[in-house]
Amino acid sequence: MPPPYELHLFVCTNRRPEGAPKPSCGHRGGEEIRAALKKAVAKHGLRARIRANAAGCLDVCEEGPAIVVYPQGVWYVGVRPEDVDEIVESHLLRGEPVARLVRRVGMPVVE
Ligand code: FES
Repeated sequence: MPPPYELHLFVCTNRRPEGAPKPSCGHRGGEEIRAALKKAVAKHGLRARIRANAAGCLDVCEEGPAIVVYPQGVWYVGVRPEDVDEIVESHLLRGEPVARLVRRVGMPVVE
């Protein structure tokens, strides 16, 4: 049986307590990004094929908000809520990841 979704977008919505030494995506728009992605997926009739899940920390905190798209293994960092339409139209509808937001595999993590 095939997996139920072609793509999963895991959106970091992690929230650390005030004063934590690292930033967290939930405080920088992660929840808003996930909500906007879910809405856009529904608007474009993609709900049976694509799912936007909330995720815990993806361990690129300094570069967040972060999204990882599986099974493609495409990582987005520095995503803003206003980038969601471009991600949906370019990546999800046309299959072209938004290059300016893609984090290359193997890039050192910013500490
Ligand atoms: S808090 Fe989002 S990547 Fe760590």
